[in-house]
Amino acid sequence: MSDFTSIPIIDFRRLRDPATKPATLSQLRDAIFLVGFLYLTNHGLESLTKRAHSELPGLFDLPSDVKESVNMINSPSFLGYTRLGAETTASRTDLREQFDFGSPGMKEWTPDQPIWGRLEGDGQYPTPEAKSLVEEYMTASATLSNEFLRYVAECLSLPSTTFDTYRGGMDRLKFIKYPPSPADSQGVGPHKDSTGLFTFLSQDSIGGLQVLNKSGEWINAPPIEGSLVVNIQQGFEAITGGVCAATTHRVIAPTDTTRYSIPFFMAVRLDLTLSQLRESAKHIVERVPVSDNTRKRAEDVPSEFLSEKFACFGEAYLRNRVVSHPDVGKRWYPELYERYSREVLK
Ligand SMILES: [Fe+2]
Repeated sequence: MSDFTSIPIIDFRRLRDPATKPATLSQLRDAIFLVGFLYLTNHGLESLTKRAHSELPGLFDLPSDVKESVNMINSPSFLGYTRLGAETTASRTDLREQFDFGSPGMKEWTPDQPIWGRLEGDGQYPTPEAKSLVEEYMTASATLSNEFLRYVAECLSLPSTTFDTYRGGMDRLKFIKYPPSPADSQGVGPHKDSTGLFTFLSQDSIGGLQVLNKSGEWINAPPIEGSLVVNIQQGFEAITGGVCAATTHRVIAPTDTTRYSIPFFMAVRLDLTLSQLRESAKHIVERVPVSDNTRKRAEDVPSEFLSEKFACFGEAYLRNRVVSHPDVGKRWYPELYERYSREVLK
């Protein structure tokens, strides 16, 4: 099978239409197996994503003291504002500014619950308008992504509700601004999305997103107006025993203009354990029609997602957050911060 040189387009309306569903499920299966990325069109969120993009410049133009008042440092759930240059990927500084939000209506964490339960909590909003936009956006995206997940199960020849039990309680949403930067700057460095099932990205008309194919070539994912770019995360890769792989991607920073993007990350259950994960992967892989070679990968669930060192995904995810945002980690989880910094230094 030849390697991909472009990102496939899946028409959501054709998935919903019984007359065109079988053929579209087969396109979806190819996109999932061969690329790990796809454009989703006619998904129904077009006017909402357009409105959100029109509000982003104003949000990032708020005075810095307003933005800093919702800095992530205030949040044990790692939600809030991160200023330009405060994050690194692949040991290089990312040239982007961002707000992280979570699903609305999370229950308050209490000390009798596991510490990682604190990852699911209330967000911080720079303005009341931002709060209502985020709530509307997250609710609509959760509905769309749940429906999408059922089609994914069907395209893998599994019962449509197969993945429902892996859904986490708090999805995440980011508003991101990439300002004009020197040529070849890193907007965000090469990475796989790690913390959930699928990402649904709304990008503006600027471009810069690139996806790595299996031959090691960077393939452009140019903007298609109104579409969402959907990609597999390592959570889904792990649940499917590596049969559906997460694909590496990056963003090249713009040089003479500003890029805005809005990714929505579908959450995985934080209490998922490694043994449950292995069991599910085995069960799922037995039923998915793939080659024996691909099936073999299922014996080795990707360890980046969940390893023997952690009791459950929530614990692994908390470590990931503490290491990625050490200032926030040090403030809210000082003992974990000490332990994990020592491990990183070793
Ligand atoms: Fe990403």
